[in-house]
Amino acid sequence: MNIAVIGTGYVGLVVGAGLSHSGNDVICADIDEAKIEGLKRGEIPIYEPGLDKLVADNLEAGRLTFTTDVADAVRRSRIIFIAVGTPPGEDGSADLQYVLAVARTIGRNMDGERIVITKSTVPVGTARKVREAIEAETDHPVHVCSNPEFLKEGAAVDDFMKPDRVVLGVDSPEVGEELRALYEPFVRTGNQILLMDIASAEITKYAANAMLATRISFMNMVAGLCEAAGADASQVRMGVGSDGRIGPSFLFPGIGYGGSCFPKDVKALIRTLRDLGQDAGILEAVESVNERQKSFALRTLEAELGPDLSGRRIGVWGLAFKPNTDDMREAPALVTVEGILERGGEVVAHDPVAMDEARRHHFGDRIRYAASNYEAVEGADALILHTEWHPYRRPDFQRIRDAMRGRLVVDGRNIFPVDQMRELGFRYHSIGREPVG
Ligand SMILES: NC(=O)c1ccc[n+]([C@@H]2O[C@H](COP(=O)([O-])OP(=O)(O)OC[C@H]3O[C@@H](n4cnc5c(N)ncnc54)[C@H](O)[C@@H]3O)[C@@H](O)[C@H]2O)c1
Repeated sequence: MNIAVIGTGYVGLVVGAGLSHSGNDVICADIDEAKIEGLKRGEIPIYEPGLDKLVADNLEAGRLTFTTDVADAVRRSRIIFIAVGTPPGEDGSADLQYVLAVARTIGRNMDGERIVITKSTVPVGTARKVREAIEAETDHPVHVCSNPEFLKEGAAVDDFMKPDRVVLGVDSPEVGEELRALYEPFVRTGNQILLMDIASAEITKYAANAMLATRISFMNMVAGLCEAAGADASQVRMGVGSDGRIGPSFLFPGIGYGGSCFPKDVKALIRTLRDLGQDAGILEAVESVNERQKSFALRTLEAELGPDLSGRRIGVWGLAFKPNTDDMREAPALVTVEGILERGGEVVAHDPVAMDEARRHHFGDRIRYAASNYEAVEGADALILHTEWHPYRRPDFQRIRDAMRGRLVVDGRNIFPVDQMRELGFRYHSIGREPVG
C-alpha cells in the first residue's frame, strides 16, 4: 500500500516508520527542511527508544522515504495520514490551522480517490471540516476518517507496533475493511481493532487522555489530604490501586502531569464541552489541581529557604516531563526553574537526554548544565527531582550529602527511600507524605 504521512514529529515519524515496517511504501512529508534532510541521512530529531533502528532498517530497505514535497507525497499515495501539531489556541481550543492547511494541500494535489486520516488529536467535528476543506479544492472522491493515536512518548515504538487497541472512525464499511487490513499486522495477539463512527473516534482520544489526567489529579488531591492529615499517599495508593475495579496504573502522586498531550487535550476538551453547552467542571478541577501541583517544588523552596533565593544554588535532576523522552513541553521543571531564576537563585541542572532541548528551546545560558547528576548537586542548597529516570532512583546518597551545601531535598516523584533520607540527615520533602529531617 502507498501511504503518505504528513507531519514528521513524534507521532508522524513513529507511524510512518511503523507502517513501513509491515511492508507498506511510506513517504513521510514535512515542511521542516532541516528535519527532513537529517532524516534522509538517518538522523532522528527526537529521543525515542528503538526509533533510530526502525527508521534506519526501513530507509535501507527502501520502504520509507522522506520529502518536503507534500504535494508529491499526496499524488503518490492512496492513504494519507495527517499527523501535524494541534497546539492550544488562545481560548484553549485545539488550533486546527496546520491540519486544515494540510487538508487544502491534499485537495489541490490529489489526482484520484483518496483516504485521508486524521491522526492528529482533533476535536469532534474536525473530520467534517477536513473533508469540506478538501472538497473545496477538488472533485475527486475523498474519504476522511479518524484514527487517533494512543502511543506514549518514551515507549512510542512499542506502543505503535503492539497497540492496546486501534480505533478507526470511518465513513463506510469498505473503507473500514481497508484500514483494518492496514492494522492487522499490529494486533496479531488479539488486541482489538474498534471500528466506529467518526465522531465517537474523535471523542475517544480526548476521553482517554482526560481520564488519565483525572486519575493523576485525583491522586494529587488525595496526596494533599495525606500531607495535611499526616498520612502517607504511597500507602493509600497501594490500598486504592489493589481494588480490581480501580487498578494500579496512573495513581502515583507527583509533581503534576506535563508533556505535549495531557495539558492541551484537557484544555481542548473543556473548550469543546463548553461550546456544546456541557458542564466541564470535572476537567476544570483536574486542570487547577495540576497547576497547583506543578508549583510544589517552588512552594517548598519558599517555605524552607524564604522567598528570596539570591545567593542560593539549586540542583535540579530531570528536565523532561517524564523519563525516556527529551520532550519538555509543559514539563513541571519549567515552572520550577523559571520560578527559581525569578527569585534570584542559580540553577544547575542535569537530565540524561533533555539538556540540549532545554538549552535550545527554554533556558539557553540562564542555567548551568551539569555533566552528571552528582555535579548538579555540588555546593547546592537544595536538590529538586522532577523526572524519575532510572539512574536517579538509587544514587549514592552519602555522596550527595557530602557534595551539597544545604540538606534540602524535594522529591517530586517519591522515588527516594524515606528511611535513608532521614538517616543521612536530609530535610526531605515528597508528595503526599510528611517531610522528614
Ligand atoms: N506526542 C505524542 O505523544 C502524541 C501522542 C498521541 C497523539 N498526538 C497528537 O499528534 C499530533 C502531532 O503531535 P506531535 O507530538 O507529533 O507534534 P510535533 O510538533 O512533534 O510534529 C508536528 C510536525 O508537523 C509538521 N508540520 C506542521 N505543519 C505542516 C504542514 N503544513 N505540512 C507538513 N508538515 C507540517 C511540523 O514541522 C512538525 O514536524 C498532535 O495532534 C498531538 O496531539 C501526540
